[in-house]
Amino acid sequence: MVRAGLDKKPREVAEMFDGVARGYDRANSVMTVGFDRRWRIKTARALDLKPGERVLDLAAGTAISTVEYTGSGAWCVAADFSLGMLERGKEIGRDVPMVAADAMRLPFADNAFDVVTVTFGLRNFVDTEASLREMARVVRSGGRMVICEVSQPQFRPFRFLYQRLGLPVLPLLARPVSSNPEAYRYLAESMGAWPGQRELAEIISRAGWTEVAWRPLNLGVVALHRAVKP
Ligand SMILES: C[S@@+](CC[C@H](N)C(=O)[O-])C[C@H]1O[C@@H](n2cnc3c(N)ncnc32)[C@H](O)[C@@H]1O
Repeated sequence: MVRAGLDKKPREVAEMFDGVARGYDRANSVMTVGFDRRWRIKTARALDLKPGERVLDLAAGTAISTVEYTGSGAWCVAADFSLGMLERGKEIGRDVPMVAADAMRLPFADNAFDVVTVTFGLRNFVDTEASLREMARVVRSGGRMVICEVSQPQFRPFRFLYQRLGLPVLPLLARPVSSNPEAYRYLAESMGAWPGQRELAEIISRAGWTEVAWRPLNLGVVALHRAVKP
């Protein structure tokens, strides 16, 4: 089974997610002890979607969040480059528009969306800043972006414990519930190497977004970043 490395080669990342698609949602809930649901609700609140808005849910996986966002009356499309993840979403009845798309070269016109959002996907893109620029391209001026991603806890003793004890345990938790436990080694490695909240906010600003704000969830294990396209 394929397992991506920290160089995040797109083919390896896509194949890895194809390989875990079947049990992905369940493994996610087990490993986050159900917190994933709460983080999705908080992301939806931060998005503050209005009926009729055009929303791109990028790296949508099985479209678990996309379905939730459609409840607002917004028109939401799930985009992902793992056909396995999208197909799994269809298989379990997630009835939203789905597009096979690479975040680095989106198959959408300039200014096509009012809102773009990514939950637990940004960390996997081969070039974070370039992907944020590409997201800005497809969002109209004044449009919004919300990113929900793992982060680094700010409180030092907790960060130490999280990095030394929490992250190494993740692949073990995934072992009984995932079809590819090796993929969860990548998860732990990519989480450990991901920037903190302020650092990510700086990358978002450099990519051309304004009004960048962020908020830690669960002591900073996860963070929500928001921004507006000028
Ligand atoms: C951890 S999953 C998150 C899925 C979903 N957003 C969720 O919250 O459950 C990461 C997703 O990012 C997708 N992905 C990674 N790199 C991508 C890229 N360059 N373009 C499009 N999708 C990508 C993967 O295929 C995978 O479905």
